Amino acid sequence: MKDSLFNLKEKAFEALSEVKSIEELNELKVKLLGKKGELTQVLRGMADISAEERPIIGKLANEVKQGLELKFAEKSAILKQKAKQKRMEKEFIDVTIPMQIKLGHKHPLTLILDEIKEIFIGMGYEVVEGPEIELDYYNFEALNTPVDHPARDVQDTFYVTDNILLRTQTSPVQIRTMEQKKPPLKIIAPGTVYRSDAVDATHSPMFHQVEGLAIGNNFTMGDLKGTLVEFAKEMFGEKRKARFRPHYFPFTEPSAELDISCIACQGEGCRVCSHTGWLEILGCGMVHPNVLINVGYDPEKVNGFAFGMGIERIAMLKYGINDMRLFFENDMRFLQQF
Ligand code: DAH
Repeated sequence: MKDSLFNLKEKAFEALSEVKSIEELNELKVKLLGKKGELTQVLRGMADISAEERPIIGKLANEVKQGLELKFAEKSAILKQKAKQKRMEKEFIDVTIPMQIKLGHKHPLTLILDEIKEIFIGMGYEVVEGPEIELDYYNFEALNTPVDHPARDVQDTFYVTDNILLRTQTSPVQIRTMEQKKPPLKIIAPGTVYRSDAVDATHSPMFHQVEGLAIGNNFTMGDLKGTLVEFAKEMFGEKRKARFRPHYFPFTEPSAELDISCIACQGEGCRVCSHTGWLEILGCGMVHPNVLINVGYDPEKVNGFAFGMGIERIAMLKYGINDMRLFFENDMRFLQQF
């Protein structure tokens, strides 16, 4: 019996020294000290031992058991420590490695809009906004564009209901602003507009405009020209030439379009400007008296000028981009260039 106990102890110590994982250790523990374990088997033999020997063997058996338990506990602690160390090594983070976080930046259209805003804010304009889902009244009717007006055909409109639509232009913000403010006022209104156009290099069903409106006393076409030529020079460079070409818009009279000398050929004539030497950049005019009447202003007492431009168009001209789709496809190779 004594020998069996010593043998067991010996064997156990040897096995313990070879154990490499907690799982192995637990297995061994069950095998040796468990209910059906080897030590229990040995202790079953106690029944056959003489009464004198029994306490001695019993004491010895207890010592072996406690000794083994202690060894198991020690081994378990060592293995746990080792496992922890391994995990820490795996999860190690070198905080001294220089960080290479790639910062995002503004979209080219936002950059252009920021520039436009800055120029007009510098001239005393306030930035206002209006809804993209708009009433027919604000988008057309109040802008002197009644039903059946031919100008409605030019702008293919997304209708939500008979009298609710996705705004086709930022001009309705003119009406909303004048309804709420007394003259004098100078505002620009940037925003998204929608037209039922097929996508190609120069068309998108969703694009962006900046509207401008100045209302006061005795404004003239000269004020409009001075303002917009100044804008063109700040945006496209001091050397840029500008010209106003008569045009038609329902909400302005007279109306004009502003052209700048071609950025690509400096006015010589090239493919970019269709060999005219000029690039159209915006529409403008003196606010139509009917529009003033529609918002409750007295056209005998106040007048003003208005203008509207496409942000994509300005960005394409300024950056030399020939396909509008690039703005909306979010190809990083394109966006990273700005
Ligand atoms: N709303 C016009 C368009 O989308 C642009 C425009 C032209 C706005 C003349 C104006 C303006 O305020 O006076 O084509």
